[in-house]
Amino acid sequence: AQITFITNDNQTITLEGTAGSVMALAVENGVSGIDGDCGGVCSCATCHVHVAPEDMHKTGPASEIETDMLELDDNANEYSRLCCQIEISGALDGIVLTVAN
Ligand code: FES
Repeated sequence: AQITFITNDNQTITLEGTAGSVMALAVENGVSGIDGDCGGVCSCATCHVHVAPEDMHKTGPASEIETDMLELDDNANEYSRLCCQIEISGALDGIVLTVAN
């Protein structure tokens, strides 16, 4: 799937991923602002992204444990996801994620 990240320094980075988490793909490719400090176990929020509103159906909403983490983040809104919790699949193709950190 083709996944586009918009970083807080306004870079647009489009990557091709086939498996694993969106966070792992971003970290492997050095996407600025996605740190993945907890290794993808939903406990650090350094992988926070805002999903483009029109793409929200591709990921679905945050899970309950994810929402609990996001509540600690001032930057969170209804389009927030922790991208270690988004599994790459064809369903994501064309998605645009804005890095929230
Ligand atoms: Fe820590 Fe996603 S990498 S919450």
